[in-house]
This record gives sequence, structure tokens and C-alpha cells, in this order.
Amino acid sequence: MNSPYIKKEHDSAGVDIIWHNSTVSLEDRMNLKQQKPVVLWFTGLSGSGKSTVANAVEGKLLQLHKHSYLLDGDNVRHGLNKDLGFSDNDRVENIRRIGEVAKLFVDSGTIVLTAFISPFVSDRKQARSLLGKERFLEVFIDTPLEICEQRDPKGLYKKARSGEIKNFTGINSTYEAPINPEIHVQTAEKSIEECADYVVQKLAEMGYLSLAEVQHAL
Ligand code: ADX
Repeated sequence: MNSPYIKKEHDSAGVDIIWHNSTVSLEDRMNLKQQKPVVLWFTGLSGSGKSTVANAVEGKLLQLHKHSYLLDGDNVRHGLNKDLGFSDNDRVENIRRIGEVAKLFVDSGTIVLTAFISPFVSDRKQARSLLGKERFLEVFIDTPLEICEQRDPKGLYKKARSGEIKNFTGINSTYEAPINPEIHVQTAEKSIEECADYVVQKLAEMGYLSLAEVQHAL
């Protein structure tokens, strides 16, 4: 008889943890949902437009009858990650947890959009290797710091400049831009709609959505 228990690991306390295989497979879920699950990993400065563009993309996925879920930095930090701040170590842990959560969502057959600054190359690389090549697309929301600071939608750049907020990304904490993102959105000259269309078009070109469906529905 095949045992559903295939992988054995030890946690730090030395207690056995055993992976349990589920009866319904990822392939079953993909067939049911008629889609290719993937993580669209949005990265960019605060105020760059990650959440706004990710929301617009999600709206378009809905129009295409795709099942999706958006994990957003500001929201996740109210719940799952409310114990974390903005030190380098906390940001690493923030992104590690999001990578794990995104992996579970992908296993459910969902198209996941994550909108976190995720400032460090090594953390994004870690998330990529956790998800695997086909299931991770880096989406660089490339908005120059000057523009983000001008917009300052939450008034945080002003607070960072005055010293009220320490470790603010782009001011006194590093942002390492992606070197070779799958999708590079230069937002400065584009509307939100144009940015979202660009992402969806790229997804179709890469085979995550059908080109015909995209052209027909959007
Ligand atoms: S990350 O660096 O760990 O990926 P995350 O995306 O979760 O950051 O959260 C960033 C959001 O938290 C920003 O959009 C901003 O609203 C808020 N924030 C508060 N303090 C800081 C800070 N010191 N640096 C960056 N963002 C901050």
C-alpha cells in the first residue's frame, strides 16, 4: 500500500514533521480552474504604484475569468506579519513568509499577485527558487525615486526626510532594483490602465494567458 507520508523532516526542536500528500493534485485544480497558476511578484519603491497596478491587473484577470489573489504589503502587515517592522532582518522575514504563502496559493491553482517593496535581490531570488522557474515572474514597477517622493501618497517620504521614520526605503534603506525582470513596467509616462494592459499582454506572450482570449476580452 502506498503511504501518503513521503517526506520526513526535523524542525529545530527535533520533533518529526511529516509531509502529507493531498488526494487532489495541482493538475486537478488547474484543470478545474482552466488556468496556469503563477506568482506575479511586483517589486518597486514605496509609492511606485505596485498595489495600484496589481489591482488593475487583477481586475483584468477577473474579466478573463481567472482566479487570482492579491497579497499586499500594507494589508499583510496588519495581520500575518504584524509582528514585523522595517529593519533588514524583518524585511527578510516578511518576504520569506510571503514566498511561502504565495507557494500555497499557487498550489491551490491561483494566480497570485504580490505587492511588496521586497528591496533585496537575494530575497526575491529565494522566493523564485521556492516557487520554481515557471511559477515566478518578477514584475518591476520602475518609478524613479523623485516621482515617488513627489507623489508621496501616504506622506511617508516627508516623515522619512524629517527623520521621523528611520530605515525608509530609497531614503535611508537600500532598494536593489531587479537586473533582469520578466516584466519591466516603466510607469513614468504611462497611465495605470496602460501599465496593467502591458502586464497582461506580457502574460499572454509568455503563455500564461491565451492571446486570443486577451484580445477578445480586453
Ligand atoms: S518590504 O520592504 O518589507 O517589502 P512592505 O512592502 O511589506 O516592505 O511594506 C512597505 C509599506 O510599508 C510601504 O508602502 C509604506 O506604506 C509602509 N512603510 C512604513 N515604514 C516604512 C519604511 N521604513 N520603509 C518602507 N516602507 C515603509
